[in-house]
Amino acid sequence: MNRSYLNELQPSPRLLLGPGPSSVHPRVLHAMTLPVVGHLDPEFFQVMDEVGDMLREVFHTENFMTLPLSSTGTGAMEAACANVLERGDTMVVCRNGFFGDRLADIAARCGAEVHIVDSPWGKPADLDTLAAELDKHPNVKAVGMVHAETSTGVLTPLQEMVDLVHRKGALIIVDVVTSLGGHDVRMDDWDIDVAYGASQKCLGAPPGLAPISFGPRAMEVINSRKSQVQSFYFNVKDLETYWSQTRAYHHTSPISMTYALREALRMLMEEGLEPRIKRHARVASALRAGLEAMGIALLADPEYRLNPLTTAVVPEGVDDAAVRRTLLNDYNIEIGGGLGDLRGKAWRIGLMGDGARETNVFSLLSALELTLSGLGYEVAHGASLSAAQRDLASFDSST
Ligand SMILES: Cc1ncc(COP(=O)(O)O)c(C=O)c1O
Repeated sequence: MNRSYLNELQPSPRLLLGPGPSSVHPRVLHAMTLPVVGHLDPEFFQVMDEVGDMLREVFHTENFMTLPLSSTGTGAMEAACANVLERGDTMVVCRNGFFGDRLADIAARCGAEVHIVDSPWGKPADLDTLAAELDKHPNVKAVGMVHAETSTGVLTPLQEMVDLVHRKGALIIVDVVTSLGGHDVRMDDWDIDVAYGASQKCLGAPPGLAPISFGPRAMEVINSRKSQVQSFYFNVKDLETYWSQTRAYHHTSPISMTYALREALRMLMEEGLEPRIKRHARVASALRAGLEAMGIALLADPEYRLNPLTTAVVPEGVDDAAVRRTLLNDYNIEIGGGLGDLRGKAWRIGLMGDGARETNVFSLLSALELTLSGLGYEVAHGASLSAAQRDLASFDSST
């Protein structure tokens, strides 16, 4: 028997430039090595309060129920649906990519009758089609959509969507997994009812926690449910007793992960939310310029491109898997492949959190250039680097 498990674990120092997790700063990793206290220790209660306060700043909200769920982003999707929906409720989901599809799947598993409003992959969710769908169903309980669709690299502007949904008397649930900390997410100004994210993207912590926030309208709906929430673990009312001053045990908090998130958020507070969002925009723009100079087309509609995640079209005849394998094996760089319909057709390049750095743009562009020419494809040497450099200079002079 191969007893390799007796060897000390030595993961490669990857540069994580895929759709998440993003590379984690040593300060955040260090926080995870601090002494573990109990989840009912008053010192930990203070950590919880501080994390809650910083999350409220990131979400731009005063919602009390703003907390990191013990799960990844998918768990937060489950939590949002399980708490808001009861069996037989109607939910409309805008689907313009892989994660909208997952949201619809989860809503259906929660017993809802789900109606899907499709938009082409690469485009944002569409207001008019949503309005038409809502007109067909008078009793829609909630509408779900993905702010930043990580499968396509598209950002859907939210304000008009939220207004429409509220005019129709429904709640709005928004997935901000890839936008939280990388784009503006204004929960209270935009009047979003439920929004959820994940620790491992623009917030810069490892995967394992999912920040979520429930607004007053959503809490009212939850408080007046006729049936029990089918999920024990994600039941917001029970979690409220642990996160409020009652501090009643619900489940054992992932202590070290909470330290990590606290440190990641502390770094965000030191940098400032606006400068962090601008940092994401600056490097994304340089990456896009570099890719285009290399002759690589971008997938998302230019008006709605995400900054934390860029989707590039795999050029005709290029072996997607071979390129990603070479980047990983020879350059220690991870980028993502396409999901669902885009499998084999797109690369997903993330510049998120601590990874959203100018040096990473140049590392990736050079490695990609060398990889493509090494695999026998024609590339104009150095063109992508000069284009990225020019783009950074013009970004800096225009802001
Ligand atoms: C937009 C979006 N929603 C949900 C998820 C699911 O999150 P997780 O993989 O952390 O469970 C992801 C993951 O990448 C995502 O990008």
